Amino acid sequence: MNSYMKRFVLFAAVALAFVSCAKQAEPTLSGLDPNAFKDRYQGKRVALYTLKNEQGMEVCITNFGGRIVSMMVPDIKGNFLDVVLGFDNIKDYYPENNASDFGAAIGRYANRINQGRFTLDGEEYQLPRNNFGHCLHGGPDGWQYKVYKVVKHNDTMLKLLMDSPDGDSGFPGRVKAYVTYTLTPDNQLQISYEATTNKPTVINMTNHSYFNLAGDPEYHRVSEDFIRMNALAFTPVDATYMPTGEIRNVSRTPMDFTSGEYVGVNINNFADEQIKNGNGFDHNWILNNHRDITEPAVMLYTAQSCILLTVYTDEPGIQIYTGNFLDGSVQGKKGIYYKKHAGICLETQKYPDSPNHPEWPSPVLRPGETYRSNTVYAFSTLDINGEKEAEK
Ligand code: BGC
Repeated sequence: MNSYMKRFVLFAAVALAFVSCAKQAEPTLSGLDPNAFKDRYQGKRVALYTLKNEQGMEVCITNFGGRIVSMMVPDIKGNFLDVVLGFDNIKDYYPENNASDFGAAIGRYANRINQGRFTLDGEEYQLPRNNFGHCLHGGPDGWQYKVYKVVKHNDTMLKLLMDSPDGDSGFPGRVKAYVTYTLTPDNQLQISYEATTNKPTVINMTNHSYFNLAGDPEYHRVSEDFIRMNALAFTPVDATYMPTGEIRNVSRTPMDFTSGEYVGVNINNFADEQIKNGNGFDHNWILNNHRDITEPAVMLYTAQSCILLTVYTDEPGIQIYTGNFLDGSVQGKKGIYYKKHAGICLETQKYPDSPNHPEWPSPVLRPGETYRSNTVYAFSTLDINGEKEAEK
């Protein structure tokens, strides 16, 4: 190669690098600056990854905690709304700045384990106790506060890996857990979890997105949403949010959403012991879809945008948490302070404290087995207002 050619090749390489950097730095449809997510945490690289389908739906995820940062979904008029809470820069996600679970891929163990203690094959394990004396969401060093490795990323798919050492937060076994996010052409976000272990252990993963289907967390409260649940029973909790062990029928309780009801009808009915104990809704419902992922588990609808979210899962339970602890002190995207009931979490799961309830669906994973869990958040629109107009 002569020197002219060399200079040309160098110029072309620099120009290409420049173009690809510039492309990465373009703001997302949700208005995020990908540069604000580029960092190193505990020596590992973090960034923002974007999924997009042909209909224009966009999901942005960071590998820090496997967190969904934004989800742009079309409303009835075709306007795109960001339907999840979160932060607009990576630093706000770090536990030293905010102990939030916004959008996170929770592991190893979503929800609570009583006193952080359980026995497996005669061996007792003690986990960190970070919530009323219990272990919540795997403790203060749960996977939602760690960096997942990016295994694969393309326009519609992101695959992450957590390689968790034996003894991580007190849990036995080296666990390799994959979380895959896939955006389908028909506006479904599919989340699949897969894990293996080299020693008997327990595992229960979930996604902790806070949904605000009006795309308006400043003013829209999830109490205004309409919810229908394919669930005939729930697990009542004591004053520390710990299941008592009882499985209670929902009929004639504020937990009955079998034929659909506004979330807010009983959300402040503190005369009810369970609403009081949960400080609103913060309970596990037992799903009645027989772990069939093709049958809806929960439907959530907001008249303001006419967006309908249908949750499908092959897990036996779902935690519905109505953002009762949001108190306006945390400032999220677009400078909005998140107040009580600004978001609702739909966390598919094994029942809380399952390691201490052998009578419930088992969270135990043994060497040679593969833990598999699948959840779909499917978005569509439903013109209830239009239908009402037509009825007149
Ligand atoms: C729990 C809540 C908790 C929230 C945030 C939910 O899954 O049930 O009690 O406050 O997560 O971590």
